[in-house]
Amino acid sequence: MCGIVGFVGKNFKVKDVVDSLKRLEYRGYDSAGIAYIRNGELHVFKSVGKIDELRNLLGENLESDLNSGIAHTRWATHGAPNDMNAHPHTDCTGKVAIVHNGIIENFRELKALLEGLGHVFKSDTDTEVIAHLIEEEYRGNLLEAVLKAVRRLDGAYAIGVVHSDHPDVVVAARRGSPLVIGIGSDFSLLASDITPMLRYTKKFIFLEDGDIALLKGDEVQIFRTDGESVRRATREIDWSESAAEKGGYKHFMIKEIMEGPQTLVSAMTGRMKDGIVSIPELEELKLSNVSRINVVACGTSYHAAVFFKYFVEQHTDIDISVEVASEFRYRRPHVDNKTLTLAISQSGETADTLESIRLAKRLGSEIMSITNVVGSTITRESDISIMMNSGPEIGVAATKTYVAQLAILTLLGLQLVKEKGSWSGRHKRILDNLIRMPELFENVLSLNDQIRDLATKYKDFNHFMYIGRSYGYVTALEGALKLKEISYIHAESYPAGELKHGPIALLDPQFPVFAVVPSDSLYLKMKSNLIECKARNARIVALGTGDNEELKNLTDDFISVPRVVDELYPLIMAPVIQLFAYHVADLKGYDPDKPRNLAKSVTVE
Ligand code: AGP
Repeated sequence: MCGIVGFVGKNFKVKDVVDSLKRLEYRGYDSAGIAYIRNGELHVFKSVGKIDELRNLLGENLESDLNSGIAHTRWATHGAPNDMNAHPHTDCTGKVAIVHNGIIENFRELKALLEGLGHVFKSDTDTEVIAHLIEEEYRGNLLEAVLKAVRRLDGAYAIGVVHSDHPDVVVAARRGSPLVIGIGSDFSLLASDITPMLRYTKKFIFLEDGDIALLKGDEVQIFRTDGESVRRATREIDWSESAAEKGGYKHFMIKEIMEGPQTLVSAMTGRMKDGIVSIPELEELKLSNVSRINVVACGTSYHAAVFFKYFVEQHTDIDISVEVASEFRYRRPHVDNKTLTLAISQSGETADTLESIRLAKRLGSEIMSITNVVGSTITRESDISIMMNSGPEIGVAATKTYVAQLAILTLLGLQLVKEKGSWSGRHKRILDNLIRMPELFENVLSLNDQIRDLATKYKDFNHFMYIGRSYGYVTALEGALKLKEISYIHAESYPAGELKHGPIALLDPQFPVFAVVPSDSLYLKMKSNLIECKARNARIVALGTGDNEELKNLTDDFISVPRVVDELYPLIMAPVIQLFAYHVADLKGYDPDKPRNLAKSVTVE
């Protein structure tokens, strides 16, 4: 996600702002920029690429004093990474500059309205509308103009604003994206998290959704969007910068697992209207031309693809196949201009997936992709691309991006149902469950300590057998991959019905089973699989739903998640399998963020 810093005070130079911005590099970005007020003038510098390019652009301006300044690292969501789309963005007068983290859902409507009023836009971003809205609302009071502007925004934002008529002021506002204020002796700071401010202060005010703040030297006033002033507690936090980058967590992986609820909100934002699924990116898709869908992916993304296959098969008459990309690309697949090829890839750079879509394109197929990186190769080579909007995932093991993929694929599946005219109460229930998922995730994440205890009990086993049926098999696939890739324990995943065809020969007291056993239509089948496993004296960890005494009595350990529609069990169970793998790896003394022999993006074959 994007990074914001802001400064107001007498003793700062441009280089101080840029140095602080560099502390947000860990969040990942594709461009950077700064806007500052000096001698009543607004100066803006921004460029695609790393912060060092921004430094080069600034040159001797780095030594300039400033009254106030804002800076930004951009993780592109709307508009390719380039100089013009980099933040800050300015209004028509060149007096207002803003930086933004989040997604403005109604930016298209606002942009049309503002253009109708004569505003001239320079970028393809959603953010720029905010600068022109402030200009439109400005009558001399910057705080008031920002208040009025943000009231017209739908979606998520964290913004910093400067205005050359108000050199000693920064105005900040947040809804759905974090923003923190740092309090100094004769200055105040602003940032997306405390990391860039720790070198200047240990006193922080965490803004809440709907807050607007006026920073003036060491004076900070906070208001609600209705104009009412409000007091927020000042907290003292004495973290190191490294601890702050991880949000106080020990590793990025656990931080990113805990970001699940926010990840779900970001994945779904702008893709539902009045309780109906509506993915804007699909407006160009002519479903009537599609006779089949081929999904190509690798690793965790492949497991998300298996989920999508089960969903589409169950709810539509569309033919769908799921292919491991490294196999697909070397076969002679039956693909033509009636085939829609869907690539799923959080990095958007996986070589096997990329070559698979190139092969499909040569055979006449339309290409759709779901990725997390705007401007990535797979995104650029797709006809339609749906962004995951998860922000950068630093841990090598995919966690929040798997969650985002499942959420988006559920929406995609529901949109296909809607387009095919077979929407029913079942689909409404799925969508309602999906909308509640961020809240349900909080419930599952609260099992963290219980899951760590479980990991303590099983960390010394050398083997694990993950089993499940239907959507439960998706969870088994992903659970086994998570465990093996960060704890190096040999973990197999099988459809539970396959056990009797060979794998059950492996089971004994040293070969535990991780069984995915939701209370779904295949529960009884799973129960008999557990009895088979017990007969081989294998220990069993059951991942189930609700309060299930029968399962507790049948197994050695039982973890339970809230009951949802069957289709959403892979989603609601994701944090459990991720936390289990994370804690096993951590307890074994490994670094879950950087597992041996693995890369975050497999751009080689
Ligand atoms: C998952 O935890 C692994 N990092 C790996 O299997 C990954 O899912 C795979 O390499 C695909 O990556 P992509 O989603 O970026 O294409």
